[in-house]
Amino acid sequence: MTKNIHPSIIALDGPAASGKSTLGLRLADALGYLFFDTGIMYRAITWIALQRDLDLRDESAITILAQTAQIDIRPPSVGDGRACDVVIADKDVTWDMRDGNVEANVSVVSAYAGVRRALSEQQRRIGLRGKVVMVGRDIGTVVLPEADIKIYLDASAEERAKRRHDELIARGEESDYREILRKVIERDRIDSTRAVAPLRPADDAVIIDSDKMNAEQVFEHVLKLCTM
Ligand code: DC
Repeated sequence: MTKNIHPSIIALDGPAASGKSTLGLRLADALGYLFFDTGIMYRAITWIALQRDLDLRDESAITILAQTAQIDIRPPSVGDGRACDVVIADKDVTWDMRDGNVEANVSVVSAYAGVRRALSEQQRRIGLRGKVVMVGRDIGTVVLPEADIKIYLDASAEERAKRRHDELIARGEESDYREILRKVIERDRIDSTRAVAPLRPADDAVIIDSDKMNAEQVFEHVLKLCTM
């Protein structure tokens, strides 16, 4: 029997800086679906823990934080390139989530089983409503294994570091390619070797290597897969 409806739950996984957010946003926009970037939740917990000066090695304290924190994700209120507003305790922390301190510590926080359980449950509840493009590392494998379509967007560490480097330069910020490459490789290592929900493609995922494709080509390819 041919499916004549679009997939309702789209899982989009892949390593850091593989272009998942750009692709996910465009896809959600084209289909009229909710775009949900789960990395924001791990970043938000890390940001709050740093703000409160919690010991990031204290797994139970960080887990309690993940179980109780109120993270508000709202439609974008400012046209400054953000996909959404992230609000914590009435403060707009959308760009704080992206700072170097969060970047350096988020892999540690996201490796804790209790943190993953608390956040995955919320993600699953939202995802099961359907009409969603959910982006992360473990959406197809753990959060929504029943997703209608699973995409694993990959690219070499060198290509991903180059894209991030070019982005920073374009924004007029300082950037050191070698340092970015080192961090990308380190994040990959932590994300893919952690005991709980390591980064890997689901057995039934479509793997896309975007090294030789630009963002437009990736989008066209995936949109076709979703509307076949
Ligand atoms: O996609 P990102 O760079 O914003 O993700 C930030 C961190 O969160 C990254 O180190 C991996 C982790 N993460 C995760 O473990 N599981 C997810 N579903 C999403 C992100």
